[in-house]
Amino acid sequence: MSETRIRMAIQKSGRLNQRSVSLLEKCGIDFPWRQNMLLNRCRDFPLDLMLVRDDDIPEYVRTGVCDIGIVGQNVLEEKLSGHGHGEAPAEVAVLRELGFGHCRLSIAVPKDRDYGGLETLNGTRIATSYPVILGRFLRASDVSVDIVELSGSVEIAPALKVADAICDLVSSGSTLQSNGLEEVETILTSQAVLIRARNGAPSATEEIIDRLSRRIDGVLRAGKSKYIMMNAPASRVDDICEILPGMESPSVVPLVGQRDRVAIHAVAPEDVFWDTMDRLKAAGAASILVVPIEKIIA
Ligand code: PRP
Ligand code: ZN
Repeated sequence: MSETRIRMAIQKSGRLNQRSVSLLEKCGIDFPWRQNMLLNRCRDFPLDLMLVRDDDIPEYVRTGVCDIGIVGQNVLEEKLSGHGHGEAPAEVAVLRELGFGHCRLSIAVPKDRDYGGLETLNGTRIATSYPVILGRFLRASDVSVDIVELSGSVEIAPALKVADAICDLVSSGSTLQSNGLEEVETILTSQAVLIRARNGAPSATEEIIDRLSRRIDGVLRAGKSKYIMMNAPASRVDDICEILPGMESPSVVPLVGQRDRVAIHAVAPEDVFWDTMDRLKAAGAASILVVPIEKIIA
């Protein structure tokens, strides 16, 4: 019997590629990394990685060419919302928000143009690679423009007099900045998501998707979490537990040869800030160690 494997689509190159690969690596999924290969066979997990243009990922997953994929919500909306009703594309399910690839889709105008609100865009030309999302937004706002569809380098359209404004992704803002453009309206915020086809798959495939999702959860949960350890006077344990940010019951461990001091260990669900450290010290804690957590399996 042949082994069941799942196929995952990720971006071949661009903003999401590295973070997608590093998420998989943190899940313990190791593959011979060859960017020019269409399919990369992972070694210790029944997964084949398909490296493609991000714009094609929703369609690959929708049609079952790939079982799952990592893609920006922006691309998902643009490519598939026509297939469903309203926001969520009907044939693709979002399994997880992945917490990276944050960006927004915004309208930007040349800096020297006085922007007086959405209605002043009436009758202008707006260049974008997101005609579906932009069109829907403008219709809802009752603004009518000429959408100029471009597949890339949208930011140079105003300088080329191809358009009066643009609607494009903004992450750090440096692309707009270096092209003399100013962001005036945000129409969508986005991050990377894990998607799968909504239709049921064979149970062996489902089982692998579940296993991968659980590993991803472990990595995401670990995210900003920290493990914090310190020694403290036994009499101050209550005070110290009150300072620790939102943790489940910390462990209190005796210290050999010190009757009035204990070690306190806890998982902090968020980064431990300097100010928390100062308060712990003031409450009598010493030898405070804060270490990153790789995985949390519930
Ligand atoms: C987006 C967008 C801009 C850039 C903005 O492209 O088209 O070029 O990122 O980022 P910044 O605000 O940090 O300068 P992306 O890398 O997503 O590529 P793609 O849309 O062509 O796939
Ligand atoms: Zn793209």
